[in-house]
Amino acid sequence: MTESTGQTAIAHTNIALIKYWGKADSALNLPTTSSLSLTLNEYFTKTRVEEAAEDTLLINDLPQDSQRVHDFLNVLREEKGDFSPVKVISENKVPLSAGLASSASSFAALTAAVAKYNGWDLSLEELSRLARRGSGSATRSFFSGFAIWEKGSNDHDSFAHEFNVPDLPIALVVCKISGTVKKVSSSDGMRRAQTSPDYDQWVAESAKQLDEMKQALSQGDLDRVGQLAEANALAMHDLNLTATDRRFTYFNQNTMKVLEQVKVLREKGYLAYATMDAGPNVKIITNQEQAPAIKDFLVERFRKIQFDIATPGPGISYE
Ligand code: PMV
Repeated sequence: MTESTGQTAIAHTNIALIKYWGKADSALNLPTTSSLSLTLNEYFTKTRVEEAAEDTLLINDLPQDSQRVHDFLNVLREEKGDFSPVKVISENKVPLSAGLASSASSFAALTAAVAKYNGWDLSLEELSRLARRGSGSATRSFFSGFAIWEKGSNDHDSFAHEFNVPDLPIALVVCKISGTVKKVSSSDGMRRAQTSPDYDQWVAESAKQLDEMKQALSQGDLDRVGQLAEANALAMHDLNLTATDRRFTYFNQNTMKVLEQVKVLREKGYLAYATMDAGPNVKIITNQEQAPAIKDFLVERFRKIQFDIATPGPGISYE
């Protein structure tokens, strides 16, 4: 059998150290704040785009009917010119249980594969801008190491770029607390968080934290990086708890217990700070030297939770 013509792109997922949590325009996915992330080596999505009779999607060998992907393919057609229907074959190596946004690597890989398939010669920034329409966090998955998604003010100037810093031995201990599908989607969570009386304050504080984070990263001050990331994440989750429209939390009992142990680890002299996204899983920011000992410490205390160590990863690539 001859293989049909197609293109494959690989995008790694990213973890935000300064979060995106709110939209200024929900149709265009324009954010209320700029955000900063670390691309991760261990988790990625590999997506192949092939010629087909109609747009179809296969994720990890299972056919999916995703309106979000159909809509996104049509956004790409409107933006860059029509192309015939495609079959999208995606291999997702971001375990649901890791609590890392698979939408980030999925929409980044899809954007890059479609662009390459159609022979569009686009910069990483333009790919990032396009991927934003699929998922905001995808803007940051084109770049190796650290990336900043500049919020911009319109569809043309809201995209991410690489943030170059001297090599940092940063690592994450990923605590896989729960793999169940989240009960509040990130879009719904953001909408509700934006009804918190503290929301404007969070937006203002986030801009300051981003500036400080850039400084801390440039100086290689991992302790400060961790402090800022934890403060930013906890404040994001406070917005959910103080939303006037159906307040909620992504945390469960184990989230609270692991957060408690992060404090214990710090008291013991470890570099350990927590960050959490739209789910109960905790990601502990540390350095590569201490990560294995932190993992062992937690394995001892939480027999039912699985732990992974993640390190900085590469930008977009093609096969
Ligand atoms: O773009 P989405 O829908 O994957 O939203 C991402 C939201 C957070 O993961 C919670 C924060 C972030 O900046 O990645």
